[in-house]
Amino acid sequence: MKDSNFLKENNARHMFHPMAHPADSLANPPKIITGGAGVRVRDVDGEETIDAVGGLWNVNLGYSCDPVKEAIARQLDALPYYSTFRGTSNDAVISLSFDLAEFFAEDDLTRAFFTSGGSDSIETALRLARQYHKIRGDHGRVKFISLKKGYHGTHMGGASINGNANFRSAYEPLLAGCYHIPAPYTYRNPFNETDPAKLAQLCAAALEDEIVFQGPGTVAAFIMEPILGAGGVIPPHKSFMPMVRDICDRHGILLVADEVITAFGRTGAWTGSRLWGIKPDLMCTAKAITNGYFPFGAVMMARDFAEVFEDDETGAATIGHGYTYSGHPVGAAAAIACLAETIRLDVPTNAAARGAQLHEGARVLMDKHEIIGDVRGGHGLMTAIELVSDRATKTPVDKATPVKLQEAVYRNGVLVRVSGPNIILSPPLIISQSEVEQVLAALDAGLAAVRN
Ligand SMILES: Cc1ncc(COP(=O)(O)O)c(C=O)c1O
Repeated sequence: MKDSNFLKENNARHMFHPMAHPADSLANPPKIITGGAGVRVRDVDGEETIDAVGGLWNVNLGYSCDPVKEAIARQLDALPYYSTFRGTSNDAVISLSFDLAEFFAEDDLTRAFFTSGGSDSIETALRLARQYHKIRGDHGRVKFISLKKGYHGTHMGGASINGNANFRSAYEPLLAGCYHIPAPYTYRNPFNETDPAKLAQLCAAALEDEIVFQGPGTVAAFIMEPILGAGGVIPPHKSFMPMVRDICDRHGILLVADEVITAFGRTGAWTGSRLWGIKPDLMCTAKAITNGYFPFGAVMMARDFAEVFEDDETGAATIGHGYTYSGHPVGAAAAIACLAETIRLDVPTNAAARGAQLHEGARVLMDKHEIIGDVRGGHGLMTAIELVSDRATKTPVDKATPVKLQEAVYRNGVLVRVSGPNIILSPPLIISQSEVEQVLAALDAGLAAVRN
């Protein structure tokens, strides 16, 4: 390895970081991570911290997951690449599609379309949704509706349905025909409604209003995360997604669950859709499907949806979409091993227990630290702490404060993520009780340091 000075000096000289200003990356070198084990990572200076970010919501099983590492190594030896474009396939991806059909049977999702990550999965879902309607002769159904505050990756389609200006403005004009409704975000919403059940009804009514306004026959799909993640961990009331499912059914609109974060246990249930008791038509997955060790994703399709394609005799169902790395054998081998390990460890049980501990602990911190305006979570290991400069007016803190807090928490042995005014906590799902206590203690110390 090059020495630490070389790495710090060269970090941003020859590359742009995603989601960062190039000048800032040059002026303030980020943490350069060089090692990881269990739930901890080590930086280039030898500092070891608990990774309360879990990579990027993807390293659910931590950094020492040998079955996944070994599966990758074995597959590299046997067959490092072969495509799944028409005319060829590979053994690993066939086995994976079989395992996924079993895993998602309870969600009634029986077919997979493989991708290289979350943004690809969203792009794929949007395309297949439009094609589904076209195969059925419903050519006018091309629009998409989604939630403000939602995050759906950064492809043009995903950015167009994203609900946060930060990921949109610089890249406009975006895809035509994408519309947004208010998110069920009790702390801030245009209805001034703090009751989660009432807010869920208002947002559902806004969805129906938008559908009627657009013309139901023009809408292809509604897309949402079962719990909004990057937008600041916004869990809707339990009535929301079932209401959405009902509205979509009544208007012939497909429901796409963006489970890039929530599939495979993070919410304390095996999927976010199962958490809320609904069955989507399409489910986008990625991230934890390989524990983050290989870029990979899968769009899972409901049987009825898939059969529209399979039963087509006109040629309209020919899929003119796919990636060189769709069904990559190494990714597939990683996913097979990861799924088996995820099931063996029964990660949702630990995610639910440790998530409750983390959420409760963050609420206790709120009693102590005025700077915390809101704490959200309570469903598995997804918690956000929203920082304000004035609780009464809910004025967000200035941009520097969350970064200062992040640094102070890091000095106390824990890596957290900053997203706008939010501190986001999404540790590996194998985190222990004492490690969650360490995360909370580091946050407490960091919050005290920022106040002084
Ligand atoms: C809910 C959701 N959808 C889509 C994406 C995009 O995934 P990727 O960054 O792998 O393209 C993300 C990434 O964080 C996500 O959180």
